[in-house]
Amino acid sequence: MKRRAFLAYILVPALSVLVLALIGYGGRDRRISRPLEKISLPPPRYNSSVSIEYALKVRRSIREYENKPLTLEQVAQLAWAAQGITDERYGFRTAPSAGATYPLEIYIICKKNGVEGLSEGVYHYLPREHALELVKRGDYSRELMSACLDQEWVRDAAVNIVITANYERTTYRYGERGRIRYVHMEVGHVGQNVYLQCVSLGLGCVVIGAFYDEEIKRILGVDEEPLYVIPVGVKKGGW
Ligand SMILES: Cc1cc2nc3c(=O)[nH]c(=O)nc-3n(C[C@H](O)[C@H](O)[C@H](O)COP(=O)(O)O)c2cc1C
Repeated sequence: MKRRAFLAYILVPALSVLVLALIGYGGRDRRISRPLEKISLPPPRYNSSVSIEYALKVRRSIREYENKPLTLEQVAQLAWAAQGITDERYGFRTAPSAGATYPLEIYIICKKNGVEGLSEGVYHYLPREHALELVKRGDYSRELMSACLDQEWVRDAAVNIVITANYERTTYRYGERGRIRYVHMEVGHVGQNVYLQCVSLGLGCVVIGAFYDEEIKRILGVDEEPLYVIPVGVKKGGW
């Protein structure tokens, strides 16, 4: 490996992570500017009767759901599986991240009666606090379906998880390679976490990549790049 490449891709990022780790910095939650409300989430569970091997074996993309709400516990567990903090000191999360730069943000779009005890709206997940902040009120399920090329499972799902990226967090350290490779690798890790967590919770989901970027940004009301929309609902017939 050339000396410059070694410095750029291995030594400098490794030293940055080490320094951050030594000073106990695990990254701060990126907050929206004026949240309407903050909802503390029930703590995640770390065990279940579904083995990881079984979840890997049966996982499928599910596009039909029961017309039933999710519980707040299930939403909390999904958000945690996507980006939850698993190491309080260093702020490391359930999914790996190049140089622990954490460029991804998680949004939960809840339709009317989509989640018990949660009103319809767009919510942003705060990993450090394990909480949701309400970005916008309203049922956006139909608008979201049309932004996803009229894929009906988007409207039918109890919630849609939207994963966005702030590329600069990664390109700041890794340059263009962060944009064309690392951030997109990371969203794949998160998507699989959500798939496997769904199996364990008796839920079904499908990752969606076909959508109009600008429409999704308008619905979320943020200037971040949407990478995945993931409808989630109670799986018909269970796993
Ligand atoms: C990057 C990516 C984009 C996808 N986009 C869509 C989509 O827009 N709509 C959809 O219904 N499924 C989408 N899928 C799901 C695939 O269709 C699905 O994974 C594939 O058919 C294999 O089925 P399985 O996930 O059940 O194994 C996407 C999957 C990936 C990895």
